[in-house]
Amino acid sequence: MAVAQDTGFGIYIHWPFCEAKCPYCDFNSHVRHGGVNQKEYIDAYRREMSYFSDLSKEKKVTSIFLGGGTPSLMQPETLDALLKEVHNLWDVADNAEISMEANPSSVEAERFSAYHESGVNRLSIGVQSLKDVDLRFLGRLHDVEQAIKAVEIARETFPRISFDLIYARPNQTEREWEEELNLAIDYAADHLSLYQLTIEPDTPFQKLFDAGKLQIPEPDFARALYDLTQDICQARGMPAYEVSNHAKKGAESRHNLTYWRYGDYAGIGPGAHSRLTIDDERTGFIVESYPETWLLEVGKKGHGIWNVEVLNPEQTGDEMLLMGLRLKEGISLSRYEALSGRYIEDKQVNSLLADGMIERLSDDIVRVSREGWFVLDAVVADLAM
Ligand SMILES: C[S@@+](CC[C@H](N)C(=O)[O-])C[C@H]1O[C@@H](n2cnc3c(N)ncnc32)[C@H](O)[C@@H]1O
Ligand code: SF4
Repeated sequence: MAVAQDTGFGIYIHWPFCEAKCPYCDFNSHVRHGGVNQKEYIDAYRREMSYFSDLSKEKKVTSIFLGGGTPSLMQPETLDALLKEVHNLWDVADNAEISMEANPSSVEAERFSAYHESGVNRLSIGVQSLKDVDLRFLGRLHDVEQAIKAVEIARETFPRISFDLIYARPNQTEREWEEELNLAIDYAADHLSLYQLTIEPDTPFQKLFDAGKLQIPEPDFARALYDLTQDICQARGMPAYEVSNHAKKGAESRHNLTYWRYGDYAGIGPGAHSRLTIDDERTGFIVESYPETWLLEVGKKGHGIWNVEVLNPEQTGDEMLLMGLRLKEGISLSRYEALSGRYIEDKQVNSLLADGMIERLSDDIVRVSREGWFVLDAVVADLAM
């Protein structure tokens, strides 16, 4: 029998604009030097929200996440209008987590209290590094002083904050990362997202990498940095609860837990994805990415959806494994079997246990070991066979 788990229901809102494009980033983010007519966008978001709320009205919203791009470029009135519309269209839990991503520029920090007044109760700040030379290398527009100031203002303003750092940067030594991470933990309240620098396709960093002008750590050294990260965070009371996310107990991002626990979510705005269970079928939606095209599509049809896919049980099971095995809490084998219609044989589990790739937490729950996190796709493939 499948283990019932309260996976929550999240609303994701994507704001696709940034002040400048960072050379490592392949997110759906665009720079508009001529400015953005935010009123026009508010109308389009409202219309697309209305479309998705018709598909998911009966669900209680447990989290809202404003991501990007750089949502802290939204005028406070824009954010307020979008949150009000979510409350209009859905039943939002009183204690819903309402998170927003922000860049640490001083202009954006000035808007923090207005965002809080509109209901944002968790801010996730893109600090990326606590070294000026590396912030310049990453093409960021802020320096360390601004980042720390933004974190301090955020701590005074929001009950919960987190910040992102990118490590495994070129020439970074273990000693340097250890110092930077310890400093970050001093500033962080109770949540940190720590990502190893990845060379994404079609980015300026990829061109430099291909031309031999940018080196990232060899796998063994990247592994050593990862282990160091785990050990420091564990020792400082911020253990990993997901491959790249660390939190004090109870401070985990509830919205992201909904993704990883394979719950339903509606994604609104350019390039957003959704997963909704409709008539017992897991259904995926993808919305047009290019902002101006999305605006036109929403104007014509009331939504920017270009792809709808009803997932078959096998696809559903594969997705659930891929998401769930990122989590320290692990996954329920019986839930996997119920969703996928597959049966996991003891020998599959036993062989992964013997290889040290997974750990068994109970008869029903397994999780990936630290070794297994490095070959997650292979572990998923072995279980899904
Ligand atoms: C959508 S961005 C965060 C919001 C905000 N725009 C910012 O950059 O501060 C999500 C996070 O992904 C991480 N990230 C993006 N591209 C990355 C890459 N190529 N390698 C590692 N981390 C990356 C960064 O830490 C970034 O803060
Ligand atoms: S990392 Fe953030 S600020 Fe930089 S381009 Fe990507 S979304 Fe925009």
